[in-house]
Amino acid sequence: MGNINASVDLRRDDGIAVVTVDNPPVNALKHEVRAGLVEGLRQARDDDAVKAVVIACAGRTFFAGADITEFGKPPQAPGLHDVIATIEAMQKPVVAALHGTALGGGFELALACHYRVAVAGARVGLPEVKLGLLPGAGGTQRLPRPIGPEKALKMIVTGEPIGAAAALADGIIDEIVEGELTTAAIAFARRVVAEERPLKLVRDREGKLSAEGFADAAETLTRRLRGRDAPAACVEAVRNAIILPFEEGLKREAELFRKLVAGDQSKAQRHIFFAEREAAKVPDMPEAAKPRPVTSGAVIGAGTMGGGIAMCFANAGIPVTIVETGRDLLQKGLDRVAANYRTTVSRGGLGADEMERRMGLITGVTELEAVASADVVIEAVFEEMGIKQRVFADLDRLARANALLATNTSTLDVDEIARATARPQEVLGMHFFSPANVMRLLEIVRGAETSFDALATAVALGRRLGKVPVTVGVCYGFVGNRMLARRSVETERLLLEGALPHEIDAAVVAFGFPMGPCAMMDLAGLDVGWRIRQGRGERALIEDALYQAGHYGQKTGKGYFRYDAGSRTPVPDAEVEAIILEGSARIGLNRRPIGEEEIVERMTLPMINEGARILEEGIATRPGDIDVIWVSGYGWPVWRGGPMYYADRLGLAHLCDRLTYYADRSRDVTLRPAPLLQRLAAEGRGFAS
Ligand code: CAA
Repeated sequence: MGNINASVDLRRDDGIAVVTVDNPPVNALKHEVRAGLVEGLRQARDDDAVKAVVIACAGRTFFAGADITEFGKPPQAPGLHDVIATIEAMQKPVVAALHGTALGGGFELALACHYRVAVAGARVGLPEVKLGLLPGAGGTQRLPRPIGPEKALKMIVTGEPIGAAAALADGIIDEIVEGELTTAAIAFARRVVAEERPLKLVRDREGKLSAEGFADAAETLTRRLRGRDAPAACVEAVRNAIILPFEEGLKREAELFRKLVAGDQSKAQRHIFFAEREAAKVPDMPEAAKPRPVTSGAVIGAGTMGGGIAMCFANAGIPVTIVETGRDLLQKGLDRVAANYRTTVSRGGLGADEMERRMGLITGVTELEAVASADVVIEAVFEEMGIKQRVFADLDRLARANALLATNTSTLDVDEIARATARPQEVLGMHFFSPANVMRLLEIVRGAETSFDALATAVALGRRLGKVPVTVGVCYGFVGNRMLARRSVETERLLLEGALPHEIDAAVVAFGFPMGPCAMMDLAGLDVGWRIRQGRGERALIEDALYQAGHYGQKTGKGYFRYDAGSRTPVPDAEVEAIILEGSARIGLNRRPIGEEEIVERMTLPMINEGARILEEGIATRPGDIDVIWVSGYGWPVWRGGPMYYADRLGLAHLCDRLTYYADRSRDVTLRPAPLLQRLAAEGRGFAS
């Protein structure tokens, strides 16, 4: 008894052995933990004074899963299967005491125990699919047994955890306990010591293993996940739970897991998992910089963006005031927010009472003076420098000292906006993506004078709002839109040279994006792009012609595509084709068929080249930050790991060759490989190095 190793402790409490694991921050099941667990269980088994065992974790959570950093390295015994086999071979009841998030291998370990008790706030889940994997420690075989294959499949394919109350109702856990968890788990263990033998295991419960509804559920859950290998493997494994004996199902699960964990998709998704966490860190942030508390917010502007940002606050439980200049505009904005919530309620994503609570956190006013009580003010007014500067001069006068003053600009110079105030150190960009209440990406734009405290406050607030914050520097379009602009130029060129919108979009969708560039511009509005080009003195032959013909996108039922009334499905449009052909003719280009491979290259390589320049200029800190921006904000397929990761897989020398080829052919010098790209390619290195 006592310390088994640095992570695992064993003590005896009057006949109950308590194995406590302490491996901060999330008790990942690394090798030392597994070895300690096996040893602790053996000692408990061999000690006649021990009648039952409790497995608990110190710190903020029960095991959050296998240690992801060990994947791809040679396995070290004992593996998680050995821990689980040791638990199931115990002739004394083993009770898992759950708090925080019991995820992946952690939840699978709990499912192997004879009993599970949890605090009310605990959550359990199998999120492996988000890492391009399936649960590999028996989860696909054990979970369907207590709750049935259909429900298990939903948890495994979505990767979403469920709360303790739902887990109790489904018979996944045995009791929700009150008071101190370990004490309550020990008391529970005492009650079950005398339970009949042999002890019951989850693996032996067969009653709910029916195929009813399974095929339909599988079809519904995987319909929109094309291109990804893991969801299909999850389906196969859970189906095996129905049709194969338990041990056979386990064997198949292990085979599927081994294949996925060694595959490119999971490697890419693991890269994104760590890159997301890394992106929140600002390398030169001093230890002393601390986020300031945020208890209330204000949003200037009740447009689509302002309303969406206000919803983010309300969803996170933070009271927020929307300020708009006129009563009518304000009411329209508040109505739009309410309508958005109602849609979520009608789809079952939110209870009606919860909607009321969230709406109750949003106050609309027409007096800017109301910002005086806010810890954070986010400006989301019309995208024009003069207007933004006037707003910031007013905020400077009215906002409390130390309030964070953020602009949601997507193109304008944050430093210039900051100069409208006498406190530029409090000013930064918080660039939300539309729809702001849905999209996870948040570019935090650090101005020349932004203080570390302000930056730390914005990052912490971003995480609280459920966003993926990435800190970037000031430049036109920041990281995401600056790279996107390269893709737009190339889209225009492809159209002029011979491709049609549906061909470009089909190639980009086949690559793994949820929609192609043309459908995306239709969604954003061609009038928006037109206004930006006007402001910058730029032209785009096809897009300008479409705009002039009244093709504003979905809002007018026609853009690059045609949209039937009430439908969002893009339909190829003969009128658009005529405009494109006319454009090609006007500049004397002989149109030619363009294959999918070329389209994909031209839709990705120029963007990666721009990404290299962005890194060189220090606008983005790490290549992984760019990957996170594209995966969480623009639909880059997560299983391809983001543009810079993808570039490394292609090989930078190959990339340089292809860019040079396109630069020569188009005589566009911006397509010449960026110096950083050339240097890394010459040294045989990748961005990750
Ligand atoms: N392995 C290794 N490190 C992990 C980890 C894991 N399973 N889970 C989290 N971490 C690390 C993070 O990288 C982060 O490290 P840094 O502080 O150095 O950046 C740190 O723990 C804290 O993580 P978060 O910032 O994400 O903390 P949070 O409080 O916001 O979230 C969490 C906690 C919900 C547990 C979240 O970390 C999470 O979802 N983790 C992954 C869970 C998971 O996918 N488990 C399945 C693993 S695969 C598996 O188990 C396979 C199998 O079937 C055997």
